[in-house]
Amino acid sequence: MALCTPRKCIQVILFISFVSFITVNLHFFSPVRPLPASVEKSDVDFQAITVSKPKVAPISLVHKTLNRQLPNVKPPEDKTKRPNIDSKKQAAASADRKTQSSVEKRFSQFNESLEFIISDINEKQIIRNRNKFPPIKESDTYDHVLAIQVHNRDNYLNYLIKSLRSTKYINSSLLVVSHDFYSQSVFDIIDSIDFMPVSMLLSDDL
Ligand SMILES: *[C@@H]1O[C@H](CO)[C@@H](O)[C@H](O)[C@H]1NC(C)=O
Ligand SMILES: *[C@@H]1O[C@H](CO)[C@@H](O)[C@H](O)[C@H]1NC(C)=O
Repeated sequence: MALCTPRKCIQVILFISFVSFITVNLHFFSPVRPLPASVEKSDVDFQAITVSKPKVAPISLVHKTLNRQLPNVKPPEDKTKRPNIDSKKQAAASADRKTQSSVEKRFSQFNESLEFIISDINEKQIIRNRNKFPPIKESDTYDHVLAIQVHNRDNYLNYLIKSLRSTKYINSSLLVVSHDFYSQSVFDIIDSIDFMPVSMLLSDDL
């Protein structure tokens, strides 16, 4: 005997479809949890997830720090490429080396501080606008987490941010932005987000 008659089978299939339809629709159209009314009136607020009073500098300050350090410092040249030189040029070369070693020193200091800033930002997972748009109290989470990887195309990013800005209840989701490129204009766009919580991740080889 067959497992089910054609009629029974169709009934079962219809029933399963109906249940899935209801489940999916309930999931998508369930009313969005209203956010607490207590909103701190500050333009920019920073708060770490794990640390209640973060000592880390605001992101804009980090950018300023990076900017201040970046233009003056060049990576050291590869010494193995230095050609053979006569004695007259040796003095100049020695002076060169002196400058070079000081550049190297500064570069390694810069390298260390940059690494420190990057790992600091990544570890502390600071969420901007967290006070304005707090996570769900019981679970300390957000409704959704949107992760985007940005490179250096600020015009495309602008479109994305614009459409996020016009999305209803976007303020109950968290935006995580992963940067793999040092672009001030991209940082500025992310800095300007005031309509939802946002956190940044920096690539090690930024
Ligand atoms: C800078 O840091 C990177 C990553 O740790 C390392 O690979 C590189 O050798 C460092 N460069 C200098 C000049 O210290
Ligand atoms: C969050 O977004 C909703 C709808 O987009 C809005 O009604 C609400 O006021 C926003 N909440 C805050 C704290 O701005």
